[in-house]
Amino acid sequence: MHPDLQKILLTENQIRSRVTEVAKQVDKALSGKRPVAVGILKGSIIFYADFIRCLTVPLELDFMAVSSYGAGSVSSGKLKIRKDLDGDVRGRDIVVIEDIIDSGFTLACLKKLLTERGAASVTIVTLLDKHERRTEDIKPDYNCFEIPDEFVVGYGLDYNEEYRSLPYIGILKRSVYEK
Ligand code: PRP
Repeated sequence: MHPDLQKILLTENQIRSRVTEVAKQVDKALSGKRPVAVGILKGSIIFYADFIRCLTVPLELDFMAVSSYGAGSVSSGKLKIRKDLDGDVRGRDIVVIEDIIDSGFTLACLKKLLTERGAASVTIVTLLDKHERRTEDIKPDYNCFEIPDEFVVGYGLDYNEEYRSLPYIGILKRSVYEK
């Protein structure tokens, strides 16, 4: 285990098994469609790569980068689009793939934006849900794990751009982000 972690919350095996299970449900629901898998950079990249490889429907891949957090751990409440989609979503079935839903602000804004742009449907898939921190009226259509309100890193998630490449998800020691 990485020395900056107080414990491992989700192991590689737990993640692999649950991601496969959820992807099968999404695959079934999207049967007959040709959706666009929209990954929200950067936190979702590892989940995105594992998730889409479990889908059998023909897919187009696209990405957006948005930010609602500053350098620390508290949401700033304002969404900035740092990189927009390459493709047109009009009439398309969109699957938004996100690493974590916290306040819900990011996904509420994205769902509204994609709907306004004319998407035929917007399905939200999250790896992690910190349900107790929700302030927006939004729920993912599919979520892999509900987690407690702890500072989690790994499997794409960072603290100041570190720890994204850890293959598991762990809880960061308070001393790392409180110093
Ligand atoms: C994280 C996460 C979501 C958002 C969730 O992104 O990937 O996009 O915050 O928070 P919310 O539900 O309170 O809006 P972050 O801004 O940390 O960027 P990153 O994915 O590049 O790490």
